[in-house]
Amino acid sequence: MSGVKIVGVGHHAPERIVDNAELETWFETSDEWITSRTGMKRRHWTSENEATSDLALAAARNALAFAKLEPSDIDAYIVATVYPDFLFPATACIVASKLGAVDKAAFDMEIACSGFIYGLTVASSLVRAGVYKRVMLIGAETLSKLVNKDDRGTAILFGDGAGAVILEASEQDSFLASELGSDGSRPELLRVAAGGSRRPLDHLALDERADRIYMEGREVFKFAVTKMIAATDAALAKAGLQKSDVDFLIPHQANKRIIDAAMKYLEIPPERCVVNIQEYGNTSAASIPIALSEAVRAGRVKPGDTVVFVGFGGGLSWGAVVWKWA
Ligand code: ACO
Repeated sequence: MSGVKIVGVGHHAPERIVDNAELETWFETSDEWITSRTGMKRRHWTSENEATSDLALAAARNALAFAKLEPSDIDAYIVATVYPDFLFPATACIVASKLGAVDKAAFDMEIACSGFIYGLTVASSLVRAGVYKRVMLIGAETLSKLVNKDDRGTAILFGDGAGAVILEASEQDSFLASELGSDGSRPELLRVAAGGSRRPLDHLALDERADRIYMEGREVFKFAVTKMIAATDAALAKAGLQKSDVDFLIPHQANKRIIDAAMKYLEIPPERCVVNIQEYGNTSAASIPIALSEAVRAGRVKPGDTVVFVGFGGGLSWGAVVWKWA
C-alpha cells in the first residue's frame, strides 16, 4: 500500500463566544464594519485556564471516535500551531500523553496559518512512504491570547479552536498533489516580534506590546488573494486537473472577501466552497480542519469528491493540497 486516505475528522471550539456586539464595547468599531470587511460575526475564545493542548485533545478525541480507533492505533501525532502550550516541550507530546498513547512519535509544526496545508503534506508523505500506518494531524490555536486587545485592526479577526484528521495507509491514494511556498523577506508584515531569540521578552517589549500579533492588513490581504489563486492553480496542474474538476474548495478562513476573490477567479460557486468564518473568525492552522470536519459531518463532502485545501499566512507562507475524498 502506498496511498493515504483520511479516516477520521474532529473539531472543537471553546464555549465562550465573543460576538461583534461585545467588540463594540471594547473600542470604536461596529458589527456593520466587521461583517462587511471580514464576514465575521462571532469567534470562540478560550477561558484563562484553557490552553492549546486542551482544544487539540478534544478535537483528537472526536476524530478517534469518528474513525472508531483507539489512541494506541495512531503511530504519530502532529500538532500544527503558532501558539503552543510552551516554547517547549511540543504540544503534540502533551496531547498524545493525555490521550494515553504511550511511546508514540509526536511533534509540532509552526508555519502559522499554513500549518494544516504543510502538515497534511508532511503527514501524507510519512504514510505514503510507509514510515507510519496512521498519523493524526491536529491544527490547534488560541490566538485570542496572542492578540493585542487594544488593536481593533487585529483583535476582531482571531478565534480559538482545533481540528483533527486521522490519515491511514490505503491502496487507493487520496493525495493527488501539493504546492507549498514561502517568502521570508518581509517578516514584519505579520508577526509576533518579541518572545523569540531575535528579541527575548523584557519589560520594554511588553510595554510596546511587541509580544502580540502585529499585521499590515492591506499588504497581507493582497498577498493572500494572489497566493491562494496561484497555489490552487499550481496544485491542480500538478494533479493534472482543471478548475472545473473541483467539487469543494476548503480555504483558510482569514477574510470572506479574500475567499470571495479566489472563488470568483476559480469559478467556484458558493455551494461548493466551505465557509464558516462567520462562526469562528480566523483560527489560523485550525481553520481548514474545522471546516473540513463540519463539512464531512454534515454530509457535504462525500466519497469521490475532489477537494482543494488552500491556505496562507505568516512567513509569509502559502500552499494548496488536492485531495480525492475516499
Ligand atoms: N473597526 C472599525 N474600523 C477599523 C477597524 C475596526 N475593527 N479596524 C481598522 N479600522 C479602520 C482603520 O483604522 C482604517 O481607518 P483610516 O482609513 O482612518 O486609517 C480603516 O478602517 C481601513 O483600514 P484597513 O486596514 O485598510 O482596512 P481593510 O479594509 O484592509 O480591512 C483587514 C482590514 C480586515 C484586517 C484586512 O486588511 C484583512 O483581512 N487583511 C488580511 C488578513 C489576513 O488574511 N490574515 C491572514 C493571515 S493570519 C496568520 O497567519 C496568523
